[in-house]
Amino acid sequence: MRFNPAVENFASKIKSATVRCMLPVVVQHPLAQCHLAAIRAVATPPHQFRRHLNLLARMLFLEATRELPVQEITVRTPLTETTGSQLARPMVFVPILRAGLGLLDGILPLVPDASVAHVGIKRNEETALPHAYYANLPANLASADVFLLDPMLATGGSACEGLRQLKEAGALRITMICVVSCPEGLAALNRAHPDVPVFTAAIDDGLNEKCYIVPGLGDAGDRYFGT
Ligand code: PRP
Ligand code: URA
Repeated sequence: MRFNPAVENFASKIKSATVRCMLPVVVQHPLAQCHLAAIRAVATPPHQFRRHLNLLARMLFLEATRELPVQEITVRTPLTETTGSQLARPMVFVPILRAGLGLLDGILPLVPDASVAHVGIKRNEETALPHAYYANLPANLASADVFLLDPMLATGGSACEGLRQLKEAGALRITMICVVSCPEGLAALNRAHPDVPVFTAAIDDGLNEKCYIVPGLGDAGDRYFGT
């Protein structure tokens, strides 16, 4: 395992916390870090931002599903019978609207028969508090592997609200995938949902006075949708 300064730094920042803490997994694959640099760059136009975010999401998801349980199946090839794998449990993707759709677009082609739930949460621009305005969750959450998708974990308010809704609806196995995180958001998530593993491409320095992640990438939804 490679030494990871971002995780070490985060761990030392929250060492005094009294909560049980699951350390985030920072995906440091060189290609992931190249896609991250591209979406950080202010000069990257929306069509390239979309492509890089989709591909980076795919890389984070591959890492997050490395230990996913599969069951053995028998496959008949044109020549003979052999064994293969299929997912042991249904999968549910839950993008937080809007920007989570940018992760979904990259991930869904890998598991085309996954269900897609939607959670609409918008930060209040003055207070940075999350406002939940929409939810459409399937009935099979309790039996599924559930992936909550949002590129940005800033104060952690939106992710915590999304996780609260998912647990209230019965979800038992949830993984959070976010592209850019920061110590404040990770600490908030660990306080409220210490059982939820987090996969991210970066733990940034922190939040500015408007609760934007620094260095960050700006407003992920605006950049993805060109608004
Ligand atoms: C952004 C982002 C997260 C949230 C993160 O969404 O996509 O959902 O902010 O901030 P937090 O950790 O402080 O809650 P935003 O509320 O801007 O909505 P949008 O995707 O519709 O632009
Ligand atoms: N939401 C974003 O899109 N970017 C941030 O830096 C913080 C919240």
